[in-house]
Amino acid sequence: MNILAIESSCDDTGAAVVKDGREVLSNIVASQVPEHIIYGGVVPEIASRRHCESIYAVVKEALKAAKTDLSEIDAVAVTAAPGLIGALLVGVNFAKGLSYAQNKPLIPVHHLRSHVASNYISHTDLKPPFIALIVSGGHTHLVNVKNYTDYEVIGRTRDDAAGEAMDKAARMLGLPYPGGLNMDKTCAFGDKNKYKFPKPRVDGSEFDFSFSGMKTSVINLIHNMQQKNEEIDIENIGASYMHCVTKVLCEKTQAAINKYKSDKLVIAGGVSANSVLRSEIKSLCEKNKISLYMPELKYCGDNAAMVGAQGYYEFISGNKSGLKLNGIASLDIDSAVFG
Ligand code: KG4
Ligand code: ZN
Repeated sequence: MNILAIESSCDDTGAAVVKDGREVLSNIVASQVPEHIIYGGVVPEIASRRHCESIYAVVKEALKAAKTDLSEIDAVAVTAAPGLIGALLVGVNFAKGLSYAQNKPLIPVHHLRSHVASNYISHTDLKPPFIALIVSGGHTHLVNVKNYTDYEVIGRTRDDAAGEAMDKAARMLGLPYPGGLNMDKTCAFGDKNKYKFPKPRVDGSEFDFSFSGMKTSVINLIHNMQQKNEEIDIENIGASYMHCVTKVLCEKTQAAINKYKSDKLVIAGGVSANSVLRSEIKSLCEKNKISLYMPELKYCGDNAAMVGAQGYYEFISGNKSGLKLNGIASLDIDSAVFG
């Protein structure tokens, strides 16, 4: 089954053709980084307008690169939630138009489910059940993936997402957008023990995260250095901060592995590209003697191939949508019900 998939939840316009949920025939991403870099972050209205301008060309290119055309496409999948609403609506409406004009089924896909599914592409043997740590710009979740479309949220962030916390710290360090990626590039070899940040205390759930305290602490540290006219120790602050964020992610993940006795761990989302996290989580899995699945770097960030992968499993579970489909800015991964 060939799925044409579309992704426009944030600042990347993506289209892909994916066969049977696992084989990527094409994957085109039009990045908007040069548009947003001068603002230090994503400007939602600019993102929507750029999606609007590029989506036709990106979809056309995805079909061409897959050496196929619409007659060989069996269904259209699209990210319908969560995300920037104006950005989501561009993809959703384009997919609705295609579905209607071509008389093909329309499959709405939850963005975080698709991040998890990036691992189905990179690891064709991977099957649920497993525990997933999803770390993106907007979300940090620990999830029990019971089946391809059956999720139980174990823990989530109470405030900032891991990516947001990295982006904010990177911005304070004067690193360009996208902050997390540039912090990784600039600081990965710094002294990870030079600076300490407060370990978050989260009452009520041993699996929930909190990053706002650490974020405030790094901001205060940098302000302090600025006030004393000290040179900002970018490399070592960044290294210590990434280490601290990673430590929190690993501790909660370890608690989830202990409770659920899972023999498989999956990581997913933009922050799963982080070199410190990848190396620490690998050690954690080796220590626990469990299998680790990480997406290839090219599938960590937002892309449409992962939407095609999850779209396939949504389709075979009967999760299709009518032409009343709307974008939804905020929607839980475990109750991804669309109109
Ligand atoms: O999943 P994603 O592409 O978009 C959302 O769904 O939010 O994640 C974007 C986030 C940003 O916060 C970005 O800074 C972060 O992923 N990111 C990284 C790295 N690459 C991207 N964070 C740390 N290290 C990286 N190598
Ligand atoms: Zn994402």
